[in-house]
Amino acid sequence: MQNIQSLEHYVEAYRKSIENPEAFWEEVASDLVWKEKWKRVTEWNFDPYSCAWFIGGKINITENCLDRHIAARGDHTALLFESNNPDDEVRRLTYRELYVQVCRFANVLKRNGVRKGDRVCLYMPMVPELAIATLACARIGAVHSVVFAGFSATAIADRINDSDCSFVITADALSRGAKQIPLKAVVDEALMQCPGVHRVIVYKHLGWDVVINNRRDVWWHDELQMVDSDCPAEPMDSEDILFILYTSGSTGKPKGVVHTCGGYATYVNYSFKNVFQIAPDDVYWCTADIGWVTGHSYLLYGPLMSGITSVMFEGIPTWPDAGRFWSVIDKHHVSVFYTAPTAIRSLMAMGLDYVLPYNLHSLRVLGSVGEPINEEAWHWYSIHIGKNRCPIVDTWWQTETGGIMISSLAGITPSKPAHAGFPLPGIQPVLLDQDGKIIEGNDKEGYLAIRYPWPSMIRTTFGDHERCRQTYFSTYRGYYFTGDGARRDENGLYRLIGRVDDVINVSGHRFGTAEIENAINQHKQIIESAVVGYPHDIKGQGIYAYVICDTQPDNPDRMREEIFETVNSEIGRIAKPDKIQFVSGLPKTRSGKIIRRILRKVAEGEVSNLGDTTTLLDPLIVEEIIRGRLV
Ligand code: PRX
Repeated sequence: MQNIQSLEHYVEAYRKSIENPEAFWEEVASDLVWKEKWKRVTEWNFDPYSCAWFIGGKINITENCLDRHIAARGDHTALLFESNNPDDEVRRLTYRELYVQVCRFANVLKRNGVRKGDRVCLYMPMVPELAIATLACARIGAVHSVVFAGFSATAIADRINDSDCSFVITADALSRGAKQIPLKAVVDEALMQCPGVHRVIVYKHLGWDVVINNRRDVWWHDELQMVDSDCPAEPMDSEDILFILYTSGSTGKPKGVVHTCGGYATYVNYSFKNVFQIAPDDVYWCTADIGWVTGHSYLLYGPLMSGITSVMFEGIPTWPDAGRFWSVIDKHHVSVFYTAPTAIRSLMAMGLDYVLPYNLHSLRVLGSVGEPINEEAWHWYSIHIGKNRCPIVDTWWQTETGGIMISSLAGITPSKPAHAGFPLPGIQPVLLDQDGKIIEGNDKEGYLAIRYPWPSMIRTTFGDHERCRQTYFSTYRGYYFTGDGARRDENGLYRLIGRVDDVINVSGHRFGTAEIENAINQHKQIIESAVVGYPHDIKGQGIYAYVICDTQPDNPDRMREEIFETVNSEIGRIAKPDKIQFVSGLPKTRSGKIIRRILRKVAEGEVSNLGDTTTLLDPLIVEEIIRGRLV
């Protein structure tokens, strides 16, 4: 199928996709190699929710990522690895080399007893072996569950147990900027709570001494000696599970979002090529970690299905200094660059001295993902990185959507600062009012929902379909509800406003307020807590926690440190509260419900207009909270 090449072409594709969705998606799916063609395009129902795509079809995504490219592009670089340390040698894996390594590691998995359908947890550094292990799972039909290597032992254990993983793949340790993290030791701690795990495969990355449990642990490099590289791709039913990825929602426990083989591959392939207007010689760099959905869809699967070069970066934007991104673009002649607003804002704050030394002429397209990008950051990105000649694609999507849903197509459809733009062909967003009625027309604002399925939409939350229904299909019956608020401008371009539920987005990472509260409440001196988001210059949103202790702490700073440690051990450092205010009570209704609106306003510093507080159980508490507000 040809990529969309003009605005007229987009309008035409969009029209076709609405008039005859099944014919449209059949054509899109035909761009991939299928082992057997599907018998029916889709069957779905949003009330109660069920959804299937390319029913009866057989496919293996790794054949589309690897085998199909060998003949024509076997020597083309598939993965280009830039290590944390800028002086380390660059690693390049061609499509042929990656194919061989994936097949060999797939045989390692089989040798260790991994079978089709088994769940495998990956807790790895951002090194090519993470990509290899992920693809190896997909090769043999094992379900990968990648957990970002920043989550704590407790968080890993919860995820392993929730999806009943019997296998873990990890490394001795990782480097991220100046920090090192002892991955194997964290896994060892997690596995004390995971009796179901009977094999751990350990990749030696930094050469640390680690404890090896002989009955359970094997070394990656030893295992590779025992296998050959012949591993045919398992024919997967289109609706077999490809992966589980945990994400936070408004309830306390993260949920395992399930994506299936055929629909996910189809939509990721289509959206990737069109949004970024991919050309065969692109050197494409997505800075996300494979531990997040962006890394799954647009660092690994999308670029490899396209047969282009995908850059994989182990480090962070600010180490050894704030010029690292720009130096890597210069060094590898990156043509498409996809990053998060947080990174842009933090680098913008460091000044142009870190940008100017580098040659950024190779850049052709810039992308943004994960949170709203403010106009100032958008312009800085456009002017100083794109030199006013690279279109910016502001891509709105979610772990649950599998792929980009609303975004301009680079250089093809209109791009406007802080606006994601038009929906991709096949995607039917609507704005709803409080009562779930569709808001028609432009220049309108409402709750963002989707009224028709698309191939890569969430199939279920692992092990609990009712939770999936409740979370996404019960707020507005008959629609997939995104949890986001949005505005449609006078030309129909969508602008995302932010979450309208109890989810906060910190540096593009999602946390449920309840999830952080649960973590804080593990501290034995804490009676209750309430967490809200507030605007943060760099992170987009910061975490503001109101905490009630059994007695007012005489050393608040020490207590704060203890709370950080508690959150660190329950979730990980990424969920560290930015501000902790000790309070003697929380604003509650007479029935005991916390009024978060008041807490949010205080955290935002908008204390003059708190609305009616007379119905509160204890109106005086609001005064106390305002007096103690942290700036
Ligand atoms: O609130 C939206 C925000 O991130 C949420 C999805 O988070 P997650 O599943 O972790 O996926 C992040 C990467 C796709 C959304 O509900 N979000 C994501 N992209 C944008 C965005 N908000 C505004 N503009 C975006 N481009």
